[in-house]
Amino acid sequence: MKKFYITLPIYYANGVPHIGHAYSSLVGDVHARYRRLLWYNVKFSVGTDENSQKIVQKAEEKGQDTMEFLDEIVAHHIATWEELKITNTDFIRTTEKRHKDYVTKILQKAYENNDFYESNYEWMYCVGCEWFKKDSDLIESDGKHGIPKGEKVCQDHPNKPISQLSEKNWFFKLSKYENFIKEYYKNNPTFIQPDFRFNEIKAFVDGWLEDFSISREGATFGIPLPFDKEQITYVWYDALLNYNTVCQNGDEDFWPADLQIMGKDIIRFHSIYYPAMLQSVGIEPPKQQLITGFLTADGHKMSKTLGNVVKPLEVARSYDRDALTMYLLYDLKVGSDGDFSRKRFEEMYASMLIGGWGNLVARVTKLSAKNEITAITSDAVTPRLPVYVSDIKESIDHTNELVNIFEGKSVADTIEYYLNKLDLQHLLRDWYALVQAANKFLNDAEPWKKLKDEQTKQEGLDDLTFVLYVIKNLAIVIAPLLINSFEKIQNILWIDELKSINTEKTVSLESLQAAFDLVDTTINLEPAIIYKKPETA
Ligand code: MSP
Repeated sequence: MKKFYITLPIYYANGVPHIGHAYSSLVGDVHARYRRLLWYNVKFSVGTDENSQKIVQKAEEKGQDTMEFLDEIVAHHIATWEELKITNTDFIRTTEKRHKDYVTKILQKAYENNDFYESNYEWMYCVGCEWFKKDSDLIESDGKHGIPKGEKVCQDHPNKPISQLSEKNWFFKLSKYENFIKEYYKNNPTFIQPDFRFNEIKAFVDGWLEDFSISREGATFGIPLPFDKEQITYVWYDALLNYNTVCQNGDEDFWPADLQIMGKDIIRFHSIYYPAMLQSVGIEPPKQQLITGFLTADGHKMSKTLGNVVKPLEVARSYDRDALTMYLLYDLKVGSDGDFSRKRFEEMYASMLIGGWGNLVARVTKLSAKNEITAITSDAVTPRLPVYVSDIKESIDHTNELVNIFEGKSVADTIEYYLNKLDLQHLLRDWYALVQAANKFLNDAEPWKKLKDEQTKQEGLDDLTFVLYVIKNLAIVIAPLLINSFEKIQNILWIDELKSINTEKTVSLESLQAAFDLVDTTINLEPAIIYKKPETA
């Protein structure tokens, strides 16, 4: 069995997860579930970034002890991912002993390799980014976010004052690894996806790579440097190593990570500094990084002040977790910035999930149950399949690879084609075209009319049986993404081979293909609604 390791960014534990966090978690989860469906042994990590200055500040503002504050926030993170059914296999907190020990070990090794040096420096620092700033990185405050007009602020955090630091710090010799990074990029042309992000990073690396600080003087919370106990490890150096901390104790073989997911604001840390840090201690770089864009809410930057922060649990509870996943993956092109439009979301839920897919399942299963269909048979399926397939091929654009699974192409190979391109949007669009084609088949065949006449009744029953077969197979290929509908369809159709597919566990290639190919089988129909109308409507 092949291994596959997916990492999510570890989220700052200074607030509860918002839709931006849920976006990367859901993208990661769909990849994890698809890989399991294709017989991969998947490791999938998420966690919280806790040794950060802004957390200490936030806890202080609330009059709470830092650890007590963290424990509360972390409990929210864990509960959110559980409720959204994110199938992470580890949850790492950077305040855990295993992480502190690991980071200490790596620091000591890099120190012994002569990769750190001490220097006195004067910096401007944005606590929002937890990063050092040059004058050219800053803009003038517009006075709207609590910082006096004209004062220098960071573009991404216009509400956080810039602090002036004059410290003795330890620095990492990034310049020493410049050639290594360039070579790695050259030899791994798909290391960063999408391509336009890779080009941005390459252009940046072609400029001057400045050594960066790996420690803070005077910080009180975090991991002390093993070779200078007065200094605390700089939060990014510590945080990036979380991906390796979780690969200890028997999971060493999962490294290098196959797919790292992160937002566009933290790409430099991951794509430049991190591979260099790893090379300095003899660890291979990760294989691929997928950079997600930023979401706005109804056209505006999300902010607590504006009160427009989209809460993922609220959306999932009022609609459905599948609706959230569908919207984020179908509507938004991964890598590009996008907007979470409530109106568009509601329209899509109504038209595609309650309508297109939900309605197909509802009307076919209800009518089939009423007419006591108890089996899917090749007699019904075999003559209709070519009609369905050729209709699709004629009516949809030629880039739909998915339709080929109905003509004997391996389900696993076909799905892997989309996964390797990291293009879940394409997969989802092709899948939905097949749903629409099934609806069209039904509308053209009009089995409800045929059932009324004894002469045509059998043909009507066979039409329904055929669509039941299509539903079974469309449910399988979308199981990792529309997880709630898959579970319901498993219970509506009651087919053992379908029941055996569980995307929380690894599925064998044989059982995946067998469930798909299965034609002659009994079914025990128990019709049910797969998507309910939203509670808020
Ligand atoms: N703690 C660091 C990551 C360390 S990884 C070694 C961090 N945390 S964060 O909580 O600020 O952000 C976590 C992820 O959420 C990042 O990938 C970031 O890009 C993403 N998002 C934060 N706001 C977002 C949107 N509005 N839209 C989409 N994703 C966004 O950075």
